[in-house]
Amino acid sequence: MSVKQELLATIADLVQPGKGILAADESAPTIAKRFKAVGVESTEATRREYRSIIFSTPKLGAHVSGVILYQETLEQLSLDDVAIPKLLASQGIVPGIKVDQGKGPLVNAPGDEITYGLDGLGTRLEHYKSMGARFAKWRDVFHISDTLPSFQAIKSNAEVLARYAAVCQSMGIVPIVEPEVLIDGNHSIERAAEVSEDVLLEVFKALHRHRVDLETMVLKPSMVTPGKETGKASPEQVAEATLSVFRRVVPAAVPGIFFLSGGQTPEESTENLNALNSMGYHPWELSFSYGRALQEPAQKAWAGMLDNADKAQAAMKKRARLNGLARSGSYSPDMERED
Ligand code: 13P
Repeated sequence: MSVKQELLATIADLVQPGKGILAADESAPTIAKRFKAVGVESTEATRREYRSIIFSTPKLGAHVSGVILYQETLEQLSLDDVAIPKLLASQGIVPGIKVDQGKGPLVNAPGDEITYGLDGLGTRLEHYKSMGARFAKWRDVFHISDTLPSFQAIKSNAEVLARYAAVCQSMGIVPIVEPEVLIDGNHSIERAAEVSEDVLLEVFKALHRHRVDLETMVLKPSMVTPGKETGKASPEQVAEATLSVFRRVVPAAVPGIFFLSGGQTPEESTENLNALNSMGYHPWELSFSYGRALQEPAQKAWAGMLDNADKAQAAMKKRARLNGLARSGSYSPDMERED
């Protein structure tokens, strides 16, 4: 199989009706924060137990086409001693891997950050591929204020994101391109729209500069919402604001836009995805690549106890199923009452 055929086969497996991606690639500090919220200490053993439980959810593959893993999990065995990528593949789910190495301050741009991880990326990808990963993820982060992000931050982060995507594709790995515009702050939905448009425009210019094949990548953006401290917009307002920005700057050649949840509640992110898919014609598949919004209820149900595995799996199945319905605008909030 040529590299292009390999990429196209992965896209066909990832971008499927009724399905989205589960982002379970929390770094060690982030998963420690999530576990602490449910009273669990994060250790190699607790992370293995929790992730093994959720990936073993019966028929998870009916609604989840791919899972993004953290390096530790890619190399871990499930509770039944099956390699995690193999367990996912047995569910019909494509294993993927987070490859950025976090972020830090962007020098001479106070308040802005830059994502790390290009050094040695090719070698790491070779290893991840040998372990079964078929797609990768890289996250850029943009803070919103009246003055942030600076053009310097937008441009530099777009550049590294595009370079990452080009390296992935050269090795037959589908890149998930994630420019996250943070929800933190008290900005308006109009300000979020303005920043999202500026960011996405520079991202696609950089992708073009680096000759990234748009047909074999997935975009993972934030929805356009008001800041967390501003109050909520209705799902229709979110869908309208998001689509009007995306129509201007995301080429129709991109097969899938898989949103992150970014701090929205599980119900909100399902309702917003449903509104996006109910809003008439758009040239891309609109789906989910949620971390918190898919996992929060499962983490609460598990609470660090293996005996709660069935409850955790039921919670995971429910969110995956409801988001699967939101893929075609077939979700309704009444469904939250069903098990
Ligand atoms: P959230 O859905 O919790 O924002 O996580 C998605 C993700 O992968 C962030 O990089």
